Amino acid sequence: MHLDTDLLHSLAKEHGTPLYVYNGDLVIERYRDLPLFITWPKFRALYAMKANFNAGILKAINEIGGWLDTVSPAEVIYAKRLGFPVDRMLYTANNLSEDEMHEVVGQGVLLNIGSLSRLEKFAKAYPGSNVCLRFNPEVVDGGHEKIMTGGDLTKFGILLQDVDQVKAIVAENNIKVIGLHEHTGSGLTKTDSVYQAMQNLMSIATQENFPDLEFVDFGGGFKVPYEPDEERVDYVSFGSEITRIFTEFCENYGKELYMYFEPGKYIVAEAGYMLVEVNTMKDNKGRQIAGCDSGFPQLIRPMFYESYHHIENLSNMDGEVQTYDICGNICETGDRFAEQRELPEIREGDILSIQNAGAYCYSMGGVYNMRPMPAEVLVLNGESKLVRKQLTNEDLVDQILGECSLD
Ligand code: LLP
Repeated sequence: MHLDTDLLHSLAKEHGTPLYVYNGDLVIERYRDLPLFITWPKFRALYAMKANFNAGILKAINEIGGWLDTVSPAEVIYAKRLGFPVDRMLYTANNLSEDEMHEVVGQGVLLNIGSLSRLEKFAKAYPGSNVCLRFNPEVVDGGHEKIMTGGDLTKFGILLQDVDQVKAIVAENNIKVIGLHEHTGSGLTKTDSVYQAMQNLMSIATQENFPDLEFVDFGGGFKVPYEPDEERVDYVSFGSEITRIFTEFCENYGKELYMYFEPGKYIVAEAGYMLVEVNTMKDNKGRQIAGCDSGFPQLIRPMFYESYHHIENLSNMDGEVQTYDICGNICETGDRFAEQRELPEIREGDILSIQNAGAYCYSMGGVYNMRPMPAEVLVLNGESKLVRKQLTNEDLVDQILGECSLD
C-alpha cells in the first residue's frame, strides 16, 4: 500500500522539498473497492473533491467513470474542465447565496439543499425542478469536534422534525425531491453512527413524504487509520450491514433506489505524503528540535485538529530512536508537525515523510508567510509525474500583485 521509501527519497531529490507525492494507484483501488464491500447493486461513490483536488487524481477518477461531491462553483467549473460531466456531480452547498444558486443551476448540477430558507427560495426560482435535500441525521460523531456535522450544535441540514414544512414548500412549487442526504461527520469513530444516521434519515424517506426518490446519500466520513497501530475498520462486515439496512429500506419503500456515499478521506488520505527536508537541528535544553523547510500553512491538520500524522525519516530508517519536536518554518510556536515524537536519529539534510497527507492537506493549504505551496507528484501505473509545480517566489509575488490595484 505504501510507496517505496527509495522512490519517495529519489522524488524528493529530483523535485526538491517540500513536495507532495500521491499514490494514484491506491486512490483508484480505493475508489473501486467500495462497491466490493457495499454490494448493493445500485451503489455510487461520489468522491468528495474538497479532500484533494489534484488535477491528476481527478482525471484518473474521471477516467474510471467516477462521480463527485462538489461544494463550490469553482469546484464545478474545475471538474468540468477536467472532463467530468455535470450529471456525475452533486452540489452540496453551505449557506448558498442567491448568485451561487443561479450559477450552479446554470451549470446543470443537481443541488443538495440544507435549509428551509434556501429550499423556499430555490422552489420559487425554479418551480417544477428536481432537488436533493440535506437533513441533519441527529447523530454526533467525527474525528474531532470541528468536523462533527450532525446534532444540535451544527449549522448543517434541515431538521428531521421539519419534514412537514419541507413537504408544504415542495408541493406548492411542484418540486421533485429525487434525493435525500445526510453527512454525520469526518473520520467517524463508530460504525454504529453510520447505521444510526442511515436509519434516522430513512425514517422520513417514505413514499408518503417523498414519492419521487431516486437515491439516498449517506455522506462521507469513512475512517482510515492514521496511527501505525490503529486498527482498520472491518469494511467487509461494515459494508454488509450497510447493504442489509438499505435492502430492508428499499423493500419498504417499494423501489430499488441508488445508495450514495461521499468519501473523501477513505479514497485519498493514505495515498499522500508530504516530504520535507530538515535543515536546522537544535538542542533546546534537552528538547531536540528538528526544523524543516515547510510549515503549517502547507499541512495544517496537526496544528488545526491536533491530528496525528505518522512520520518516517527516509534518510535514516534504521537509526537510533530519539525523541523530537518536528517543527516548520513559520513564525508561530504551534507550527509543529509532531511533538515529542520518537524517530530514528534525525540529521540536518535528512528527508522526512509525513504520511496520510492525501486528504485535506494540500487542499487546505495557503501561502501564509508568503511561501508558495509545494509541488505535487502523482505516481500512477508505475510512472511518476509532476502534476503541479511549485510557484517560484517571484511567481507568487507576481500573482498577488497582479490581483492588486495600487492606483
Ligand atoms: N460529504 C460532505 C457533505 C462533507 O461535508 C464531507 C466533508 C464529505 C462528504 C467527505 O468527508 P470524508 O469522507 O472526507 O471524511 N478538514 C477536515 C475534514 C473536513 C471534512 C469536511 N466535509 C480534516 O482534515 O479532518
